[in-house]
Amino acid sequence: MENLSQSRRSFITTLTLLLASGVLLVRYLIPRTSGTRRVLATAAAADVPLNGALLFRDERLILMRDNSGFYVLSLICTHLGCTVTVTEDTLACPCHGSRFDRQGMVLTGPATLPLKRFKLVEQNGGITVYDS
Ligand code: FES
Repeated sequence: MENLSQSRRSFITTLTLLLASGVLLVRYLIPRTSGTRRVLATAAAADVPLNGALLFRDERLILMRDNSGFYVLSLICTHLGCTVTVTEDTLACPCHGSRFDRQGMVLTGPATLPLKRFKLVEQNGGITVYDS
């Protein structure tokens, strides 16, 4: 009888550990889809002139405006993560010399990927930049 009780206890313990491990594994593998987006920056649309830009230094973002409208680029270099600097025509990385055009496309390496773009919502004269 004691052996049966111990075997049952061992089974329940093993089952509990397996279930807990499964839950942790699922939470780790499946991204959270809570639908909440984090606001990275806000601006008034009027603050960004045509063919101009508004820099968000702390957030390492730049809100750009051209004839097609507004867009937001990350200022994090896709090579090794330095902060690119903004010039009139390009975005240049001071670390290893990568250069990007105003659309964030690579002009010269070593970076091979374009700068990340963020989503934005333009509404009632304001612009909100989201992380996804
Ligand atoms: S981190 Fe920008 S070129 Fe290397």
